[in-house]
Amino acid sequence: MTPTILVTGGCGFIGANFVRLIHAERPGWRIINVDKLTYAGNPQNLAGIEEGENYRFVRVDICDAPAMRQLFFEEKVDTVAHFAAESHVDRSIAGPAAFIETNILGTFTLLEAARSLWLGSSWQGNAPCFLHVSTDEVYGSLGTGGYFTETTAYAPRSPYSASKASSDHLAAAYFHTYCLPVRITNCSNNYGPYQFPEKLIPLIFNNALHGKPLPVYGDGKNIRDWLYVKDHCRAILLVIEQGKDGESYNIGGHNEKQNIEVVTTICDILDEKRGLLPTGRPRRELIAFVKDRLGHDRRYAIDPAKIQAELGWQPEMGFASGIAATIDWYLANTAWVNAVIDGSYQKYYTEMYGQALA
Ligand code: NAD
Ligand code: DAU
Repeated sequence: MTPTILVTGGCGFIGANFVRLIHAERPGWRIINVDKLTYAGNPQNLAGIEEGENYRFVRVDICDAPAMRQLFFEEKVDTVAHFAAESHVDRSIAGPAAFIETNILGTFTLLEAARSLWLGSSWQGNAPCFLHVSTDEVYGSLGTGGYFTETTAYAPRSPYSASKASSDHLAAAYFHTYCLPVRITNCSNNYGPYQFPEKLIPLIFNNALHGKPLPVYGDGKNIRDWLYVKDHCRAILLVIEQGKDGESYNIGGHNEKQNIEVVTTICDILDEKRGLLPTGRPRRELIAFVKDRLGHDRRYAIDPAKIQAELGWQPEMGFASGIAATIDWYLANTAWVNAVIDGSYQKYYTEMYGQALA
């Protein structure tokens, strides 16, 4: 039987890229996209994917236990790709409550729904798989050397990363305690099409395009390890299809960059593609060093040796070509960018689904 996959958070950045990938490359799969449509969820990220036999969208909160249980049973879900989360570190510092609810309680609710269906005596479907999508931030912060491996001790340092670490522990505990077929992925920073412009790369792109100041936290020397979103999505699909239950897999492409390097790269590409600012000056002059993020982790760097050796995964996109492709995508999709920036994407789905936003 072809899989019925429940994708949570499929209207967000990575979830939408993942839905697009499996819709295109696994055409027989039935995709159930469950998304609450918070500010970060945008159905326009899935424009062109129509409701039908292979795709269903359900607007619901993953913390709604009766609704989750009903959906698992009604659809006979056999595969879960769990992306839904509050994902932005700065928001978690300003208001952690939603992170605790969605990231911890939401994950717990999904694990319980999966447990009651798959471990019940009447389950006769495919061998099930619960893929929990997580982050390298659970490992804390690195000094100048070393990498995060799957055996690095967890040391989360923001409310966001603590909530993700907690959800990872719950997912792992369901494997050890109940033998629920759980797999976990911990990935580094993603970039690419459909990313909400609160995150560094789309934020800097938009501000630089419009000649606005480019806020760089602290000294700009914090390091992130960047991965093109499609490479992340391919890795997740590979773990679903070929990974082992109870295992976790680190995903990253060895693209460590200081934030200031990322920002100047975007400035230079835009200068080249769009010409200098109206003042005749380069966009680098818009850079403004601002107050640092509280508890700002200094460096993340993933060692992806396990997924490379065991599953044969390799990233296809290096940073130089990935950032150029990303900027080309944003420049070619101004309608999407403008709707997100001016908030009109929210009107579109409030009209479509008839409810106020969370
Ligand atoms: P995002 O913020 O762009 O999207 C999150 C999606 O989840 C949105 O569509 C939102 O509406 C939905 N959602 C939020 N709360 C929900 C709830 N209670 N019920 C149902 N839906 C809800 O996030 P993203 O950047 O695409 O990240 C997706 C996942 O990948 C997250 O679990 C994140 O921790 C993880 N991750 C992200 C990165 C990254 O660089 N963005 C890297 C590694 C791991
Ligand atoms: O490492 C994976 C994580 O990457 C994911 O788990 C998170 O969901 C995702 O949001 C991302 O977290 P970061 O905090 O690393 O991403 P962000 O884009 O917010 O910031 C990247 C770096 O840029 C970080 O060091 C903070 C800095 N920054 C960010 C913003 C928004 C700035 O200097 N200026 C800014 O305006």
